[in-house]
Amino acid sequence: MSANALKESGPDGPLLDGIGVAALSRHAVQAEFTDTAGTRALHAVEDWCSAVDTEGPYRPRTEKFPFGDVIEHFRSVGRGAALPALIARLRVLHTSVQSEAPPEDEEVSTPLLSSWLRLTFDQEDGDYHTYVGTHLYDRMRERSEGKTGDILSDTIMAALAVDLLSIETSALAAEPSRRQRTRTRAAYQLLRSMNALAPAWGEKFEGKAGPFATADELNGDEALMAAASRAISATADQIEQPVRRLVETTMLPVTRLHDEQMFIRIIQIFEGLYVHVGRCLGRAITALDNGDAEGCRDELSDAAHRLDATPALFRVLTTMPREAFTVIRENTYGRSAVQSTSYRRVELLSAPRDPGSFSPQAPLLALEGETLQEVFERQLPELPPQTVTRLEESMRRLDAGWHMSKRTHWGITLKIIGSAPGTGGTSGADYLQRTAEVSLFPKLILGVRRRTVRRT
Ligand code: HEM
Repeated sequence: MSANALKESGPDGPLLDGIGVAALSRHAVQAEFTDTAGTRALHAVEDWCSAVDTEGPYRPRTEKFPFGDVIEHFRSVGRGAALPALIARLRVLHTSVQSEAPPEDEEVSTPLLSSWLRLTFDQEDGDYHTYVGTHLYDRMRERSEGKTGDILSDTIMAALAVDLLSIETSALAAEPSRRQRTRTRAAYQLLRSMNALAPAWGEKFEGKAGPFATADELNGDEALMAAASRAISATADQIEQPVRRLVETTMLPVTRLHDEQMFIRIIQIFEGLYVHVGRCLGRAITALDNGDAEGCRDELSDAAHRLDATPALFRVLTTMPREAFTVIRENTYGRSAVQSTSYRRVELLSAPRDPGSFSPQAPLLALEGETLQEVFERQLPELPPQTVTRLEESMRRLDAGWHMSKRTHWGITLKIIGSAPGTGGTSGADYLQRTAEVSLFPKLILGVRRRTVRRT
């Protein structure tokens, strides 16, 4: 524990007392009852490997893999202080599993073992994707497209919000404090905002669980915890087992800090949002290309509506204390969201970009086909003026939502890390301030200006 204790010292001293905001996670504090040494997890993995060696290939036996033992150890001590022999075993196993072809009828009831194993030694040479588990989420989402795909994707986001509320509520129950109360309330309001952030799931949930408590009704810890517990249990049977399993297996914090668990969940929800906005843009391009301007507008307004609800996510994120983030930052170098593929895809689908304007750590994505701005420009001479105006309105609305979200992220970064550089090799807040001003549709803004000048 001593190495970890040193890493978990904030600028104002050690963050080792208690459970909750600016302190430890419930798992870390209750670690004395669990597998801090990691030997139980190591034996469970060894046993599984021996059984596999005698009974057949890895993949069909994934369901029996001791995910729970490994996760419990990681959550108790933080990935950064996990048993080195266990990490080494998981790394070797990853190599073996990777070399196997998946069976044709592979089920998705458990996470893909090779992708999951890659997360377990992330602390040695990982990136943003292995920190957050994006490949596992992508794989689950790729199972369905269109409306069904949207429902699945929204259910995943909601499941993450439910888990976050459950983590925060149990911290409040363990050790009530002003900061923990504020965090738990924000997590409750976030789950409530899932109606807007993940509407396909929101409709389903509101119908069955009844309305959420109002802000007035949440006065006092008892009322808050009771309302949160009602919301959590009402959702339990609405989230299918594979989704619950995915959420459970992708909480692998590097430190023992409670705040890191919130950070991971908020990033995973944002990732879901970026993926969805990218899907909307892809479908908007196809619709406009096929002459369906209304279909294009519907997609753009779906994305814009969701972005309008991001303040609920930021309200949870702003409860991150500076001292806690300093510790998280020190332990997550090289794992910045600047590497997010889904985020970059949104920018690349909307208009052509100068690759030189991105951070060197941004993923190099080559997307096929035209951007939305290009399709719009090409079709401009043929479109009736009223359609042009309506399309411009929708594009501007999406741009405004994206801009607002980037400005808020910049403001929070300034508050939490000041002028320190980012973990992705950029200048930090200055970089974010500059990128926040880049429009999703730069020519649209110029075009509107040109037409206005011509008319006057
Ligand atoms: C305490 C909270 C956070 C701080 C202090 C913070 C800080 C930063 C910094 C300094 C950068 C610049 C790139 C770098 O060098 O790392 C960045 C980029 C980025 N962050 Fe955050 N971040 C926070 C939370 C989040 C969350 C929860 C998300 C959600 C996924 C997120 C998404 C992004 C994205 C997409 C970029 C790339 C922006 C671009 O290239 O224009 N950040 N962040």
